Formats: sequence, structure tokens, C-alpha cells
Amino acid sequence: MSQPLATLITGASSGIGAALARQLAAKEQQTLVLVARRKDKLETLANELRSQHGVRVEVIGLDLEQVGAATQLISEVEKLGLSVDMLINNAGFGLNDNFGDMPLERIQGMMQLNMVALSELCHAVLPSMRERKQGRIMNIASVAAFQACPNFAVYGATKSYVLMFSEALAAEEKKNGIKVLAVCPGATATEFHDVAGNGGTFMMKIMDTPETVAKTALCAMKCGCPMVVTGLLNKPLPFIIRLMPRRCMTWMAGKLAAR
Ligand SMILES: NC(=O)c1ccc[n+]([C@@H]2O[C@H](COP(=O)([O-])OP(=O)(O)OC[C@H]3O[C@@H](n4cnc5c(N)ncnc54)[C@H](OP(=O)(O)O)[C@@H]3O)[C@@H](O)[C@H]2O)c1
Repeated sequence: MSQPLATLITGASSGIGAALARQLAAKEQQTLVLVARRKDKLETLANELRSQHGVRVEVIGLDLEQVGAATQLISEVEKLGLSVDMLINNAGFGLNDNFGDMPLERIQGMMQLNMVALSELCHAVLPSMRERKQGRIMNIASVAAFQACPNFAVYGATKSYVLMFSEALAAEEKKNGIKVLAVCPGATATEFHDVAGNGGTFMMKIMDTPETVAKTALCAMKCGCPMVVTGLLNKPLPFIIRLMPRRCMTWMAGKLAAR
């Protein structure tokens, strides 16, 4: 007998991940598996979703910056008797600072979480999705993916990786019935900015809500788009970048992130 299907959401304890969990619980009756380090916050959200929507919600407290965490996560999902039908790689963080001034461990953790764990999770869920000829993968990138980002040099580069990787994967897996979407939000009002140390930057003045980002992302996933930019102000960005000199875009990105 085939295993029950589930949606696995990393970084569901706050912000965009929590908004995606709420909207999915309201729309789809599929089991949700919520992952983050703060298990207490996941439990609170899980109780809210169970009582409001009657869905099965499982929580897993895990630090995805640790080497091997993605493999551990997949084995915990298997122990729950679930098969991943939709993977949402949302957990991620950025740091607003000069590269040379950041502690190396934070840089390594960011690369591990934003790129390595994300790729490992995609790799782990593909075999069962291919077998079922059905599956959805949503990777949260950023508008930071489109150009070099002074003060966010590593973060921007990790998000460029997420965008390019996801678009390529979407093309590769289309024939197997698997939809892959890269979501590129602009500045969004979440805990991201407290973690990054973005206080006083211009980007804090032009923020979307996590609910709007989640709604746009789920709509694009349904349509089978390989990439979506969220927020009206951000939509033209991929086209503007093609027309503007690269140095000019780098300068503008630096201004947005300057404290
Ligand atoms: N907010 C923005 O302006 C913005 C713009 C573009 C893209 N994004 C992207 O959107 C995604 C979601 O961020 P957000 O804005 O919703 O920020 P957020 O509220 O800070 O959410 C980040 C989530 O990732 C989880 N997380 C962080 N480190 C983790 C780790 N080591 N292991 C497991 N989970 C971890 C956090 O949970 P715990 O702390 O409990 O572990 C939290 O649930 C990120 O990939 C971010 O890069 C955000």
C-alpha cells in the first residue's frame, strides 16, 4: 500500500514558512510536516492548524545548518510513515555586513542552510516523486538572486544559486511530472530583518507581508511556473536588470542594504 502524502515545510516557525503552512492547511487536506529549530513555536502553530482545519500536522525540531541534517530529516519523515509530495525549502537567513567582517562559522552556516541542505532535500525527495510521476518543490530564493549585493555578498550569492538550480531542476523534472518553482520575494516583514541586522535600511520601508508572498507563491506553484517574483514593485526587476549596466545594479543593491 502506498504511504500517505505530506507537505514538508522548512523554516515554518515564523514569517513566510508559517504563512505558507496556514494557507496550505486552509486549502489542502494534506498532512503537514513543519521543521525549524524552535520546536515550541512549531507546536503552537501545529495546534492552531489542527484545531482550525482538522489536518494532521507533525513537527520536527532540527538545525538544518548541521552537516547531515537533511538526511536525518528525511529519515524522520519516513519514520512517520509519510512520503513527501510537496517540499518547501523555505528556511534561510542572511547577514547584513561586509564579508570580511563576518565570522566564518556564520558564513559556513548560511551556505549550508541556504544551498546545501536545500539541494540535499531536493535530491532525497525526487526518487519517490518520479515513481509517482507527481510532486512539487518550492524553493524560496529572493530578489537578491538577480544581482550582486554589497553587504549581503554571500546571502545574495546563495540565493542566485537557489534560483539557477531551481530553474534548471524545473526543466529537468518536467518530463517526470514534477513541478519546481523558485520564489523571489522582495523585502518582507518577517524576523529575517532582525536576524540579518537590517534596522535603518531603505528596504525596511518597502516591505510586503508574508501572507502576500505565500499567496503569490502558492498560486505560481499551481500554474506550474518555474519562477515567480512577488510584490508589484519587484516584478519588473528581472527585465530592468537585463537593460542596466551590472555596476549600476550592484550600486543600487548596496544602497538598499546600507545602514
Ligand atoms: N523577509 C525577507 O525580506 C525575505 C526576502 C527574500 C527572501 N527571503 C527568504 O525567505 C525565507 C524565509 O524567511 P523569512 O523572511 O520568513 O524569515 P524568518 O521569519 O526569519 O524565517 C526563517 C525561518 O527559517 C528557520 N531557520 C533559520 N535557521 C534555521 C536552521 N539553522 N535550521 C532550521 N531552520 C532554520 C527559522 O526557524 P528557527 O529560527 O526556529 O530555526 C524560521 O522559521 C528565507 O529563505 C529568506 O532568505 C526573505
